[in-house]
Amino acid sequence: MCGIIGYCGHRPAVPLVLEGLKRLEYRGYDSAGLAFLQLNKLEVIRSEGKLCNLEEKVAKTANTFAPISIGHTRWATHGLPVERNSHPHKSNNNALAIVHNGIIENFQELKDELLQKGYVFYSDTDTEVLANLISDELDALFAAKFSKKYEQMQAELESISQNSLQYLPYMEEAFRNALKRAHGAYAVVLLSPLIPQHLLAARLSAPLLLGIGIGEYFIASDVPAFLPYTRDVVFLDDNEYVVLSASSYAVKNIYVGEEIAKTVHHIPWDLQGAAKDGYKHFMLKEIMEQPRVLQDCLVGRLQDDMVCLPELDTLAVPDSIRIIACGTSYNAGLWSQYYLEQFAEIPVTVEIASEFRYRKPILNKNELVVVISQSGETADTLGALRLCREKDYPVLGICNVLGSSVAREATVSLYTQAGPEISVASTKAMLSQMVVLLLLALYYGQRKKLACPVREVLRELKALPEILENALPKMRDKAKEFAFQYAFAKSFFYLGRGIAYSLALEGALKLKELSYIHAEGYATGEIKHGPIALIDPDFPTFALAFDDENFSKVRSGIQEIKSRQGRVISLLQEGTTLENEDLWYIPKTKLPEFIALPAMQLFSYEMADYLGKDVDQPRNLAKSVTVE
Ligand code: G6P
Repeated sequence: MCGIIGYCGHRPAVPLVLEGLKRLEYRGYDSAGLAFLQLNKLEVIRSEGKLCNLEEKVAKTANTFAPISIGHTRWATHGLPVERNSHPHKSNNNALAIVHNGIIENFQELKDELLQKGYVFYSDTDTEVLANLISDELDALFAAKFSKKYEQMQAELESISQNSLQYLPYMEEAFRNALKRAHGAYAVVLLSPLIPQHLLAARLSAPLLLGIGIGEYFIASDVPAFLPYTRDVVFLDDNEYVVLSASSYAVKNIYVGEEIAKTVHHIPWDLQGAAKDGYKHFMLKEIMEQPRVLQDCLVGRLQDDMVCLPELDTLAVPDSIRIIACGTSYNAGLWSQYYLEQFAEIPVTVEIASEFRYRKPILNKNELVVVISQSGETADTLGALRLCREKDYPVLGICNVLGSSVAREATVSLYTQAGPEISVASTKAMLSQMVVLLLLALYYGQRKKLACPVREVLRELKALPEILENALPKMRDKAKEFAFQYAFAKSFFYLGRGIAYSLALEGALKLKELSYIHAEGYATGEIKHGPIALIDPDFPTFALAFDDENFSKVRSGIQEIKSRQGRVISLLQEGTTLENEDLWYIPKTKLPEFIALPAMQLFSYEMADYLGKDVDQPRNLAKSVTVE
């Protein structure tokens, strides 16, 4: 995900900003840039790829002693990861530059308006639209006050550095006016030669915090950016902006402009810990950020209670779908079979990539191949993709990493927008794949004009982030409690039926990946055909019992295990009950998979942590398996 840092103070700002960007590298990025003032002129340096490319460019630039600077690492989600799309973005008139995290949802509407006024755009980004919108607002204010636009004021502007406060109110007002018109999410920082001693920064649904030093202030998307200098932090809230200089800061409300008293928090983390946002492991951080992931996946894909996947509009509606993937991505694919068949009435086959590619697979006429891969680099998945492309089958790639091989080689791609996943065991990436696959099922249902309940499902889906956010702390406590009770186990069954079957496979995979406890996922109905022979008091079961048409059958399955002295953790929804002592309640929703998955992830996490395993880098495993 993108990273932001801004600085004003007594140190040379450019090297400090570069160092700050390095400390945000763990988030993942594909381009970077920074801006500073040189002889009161705005200078922007940007570069594709790693930060060393940017450093090289900066080293060739004369003035790196500027006391004020902003920087950005970009993890592209919209627009290619190329230099022209990287931040900072300048307004056409060079009055300002901004860095931005988030997505301005109504950017097209705003862009059209600015295009009509003669603005020119050099990138594909929403950020450049925002930069020009602010400068357009500024010009309107200048025209009213001085009867001139910014560009016609060059002579006066040359003496600005001595009198920077003169234009601050105008810039502040322009900034606020523009932000009031921008819908979506943003953390944005602005640098302008008009206010050479100040930075403006604002947030809405994207993290932004102020670091308080002595004679210096920092603004960043994440604490590690400025942690070597200060641990005193002010967290900005939604609809707040801050005006900062080397000697002061003021946080105000974007809508009313009034100053807000803020609390200064002291961060107890060291650098290592802060890189994980204070979490003990990346895995835990990634589990806990799933409410945001749910939201991010939907951004730009819903319109008037309809699913929009314009990437797929040019492909025919397939007669059948072949899903191919490995590991956790395979489990997400298997899960989606139920919804694709139910909502889109398309027959679906789900295949393990390493098996598929070494058969002589026969695909149907008009079959769509869907490959799912978080990294987009898994060798077996890529091999299967290439095989299908050679045979001229259309391939839809669902992946998380922009510009990855799957994304480049598939006919079309859908990005899961989960942000970089650092822990080897996949968590939030699977959740995001499930969202995209559910949208795919609804999308084809829409295109086939079937009576599929798009509106109802979207309503449920949109409610999930809040439900999950509220549920996570309690689920973590429960996961800890059960991990402690069940840490004796050498083997575990995971059982699920219907939509819960693939989750049972994933639950078992997570437990063995992380805690090295042998675990098997089974279809609940299948357990009596052999596996039940293994049940005894030392062989526990984790059963998924959702409140759906399978509930009574799942209950019978659990009873069969209990009557053979098997211990069972039953994950069930509020409002239902079972004859079992170890019940784990999750909130009621029509899409319980999206809550059950994080619950099982937490259970595996707590088990591995309790047993002292290397949670983020389990033995023998790699994040992305690029060999066959
Ligand atoms: C590796 C990882 C798994 C992942 C699988 C597929 O085995 O350890 O967590 O599910 O690869 O990865 P992909 O990037 O293709 O989703």
